[in-house]
Amino acid sequence: MSEFIPPFPKRLPEEPTAWQRFWLGRRNLMGAWPEAAFRYDFVAAKILAKQIFICNTPETVQYAFSTHNSNFERKSPTMRHMLQPLIGDGLFISEGETWRKRRRIVSPIIHVSRLSEFAPVMTNTARDMIKRWRRLPEGATIDVLSEMSQLTAEIICRTVFGQNLGHERATAIVEGFTEFQRTVSLVDLPSAFGLPDWLPRFRRPAVRRSTKRIQRVLDDIIADYRARKNSGEISVIGRLIDARDEETGEPLSNEALRNEAVVIFMAGYETTASTLAFAWFLISQVPAVEARLHDEIDSVLGDRSPTCQSWPIHAPSSRRRFGSFRRFRCSGAKR
Ligand code: HEM
Repeated sequence: MSEFIPPFPKRLPEEPTAWQRFWLGRRNLMGAWPEAAFRYDFVAAKILAKQIFICNTPETVQYAFSTHNSNFERKSPTMRHMLQPLIGDGLFISEGETWRKRRRIVSPIIHVSRLSEFAPVMTNTARDMIKRWRRLPEGATIDVLSEMSQLTAEIICRTVFGQNLGHERATAIVEGFTEFQRTVSLVDLPSAFGLPDWLPRFRRPAVRRSTKRIQRVLDDIIADYRARKNSGEISVIGRLIDARDEETGEPLSNEALRNEAVVIFMAGYETTASTLAFAWFLISQVPAVEARLHDEIDSVLGDRSPTCQSWPIHAPSSRRRFGSFRRFRCSGAKR
């Protein structure tokens, strides 16, 4: 097991120039770094006007994101300019008082203690996927990333926007989001050159088109929810509508609701799909781990479906295992 090195994006044999790095980074941020950048626990580099830090171990990630987070600019101008058309002042990019107020409202709604309310959606959607797989011919190959993306898109759509979302709206959200991701620029040239934040940015028409498509569907969903008030349906958006600021007693405005709903959709969609796909791939590469996981599932669940209570109490080892898959992903697989 200690010999196993997970795969990682192709690395450059030597240090690129700032311009090469910039063009490579537009397509794949990880691919803009040479081999050497992954050998150290922590790397600092200056690119044009930007100071960038790379954290390659769980400890340095914890340092940057948790214990010393105030030393780092996490919500960078690049991130703000990239996401602002879609999420406005949503949690991912807001700061200061707006961030504190929103965080007070959103945090309890997506807190792990609420997970059990949404667990049936997760198990039912996973069961539907398994039924679909069982209908495939013997020995068929599946594209696990696309399957996990479908699975998490369906789960996050149903949990955030409600079980009655409907196929048409779910498709419009997922397609709109995919188009947004495909067309939005990952690198903000003006901030790379240290130009001021207020300078207007060029945005491709496709970015505006996908944003409008998602926002229109979300406005409809919010209006529907308001019309059928107290329907008893459990969803993140319903909870956001009912939430009140504990200090001021104010509800979220329609725009804030839309922004935070998109943030939660984005946060829970691709992150989870990629983690799951990578986890299945890694497990498939290490037969001893695969066998242990099967034994654990058999002994904890037998023929029963999992619930929120099945795992944390009886089998913390699987939680640790998923923690280490995430670590592999975060660290970019350090050699
Ligand atoms: C494998 C899965 C996930 C990974 C690796 C991940 C990772 C991250 C990271 C690195 C951040 C930035 C933290 C910071 O700036 O300090 C973040 C923020 C956030 N994540 Fe996740 N996340 C995952 C799943 C989720 C899920 C399932 C949800 C909700 C359903 C979620 C909701 C959020 C929210 C709301 C924020 C913004 C927090 C803030 O700025 O106040 N994430 N996530």
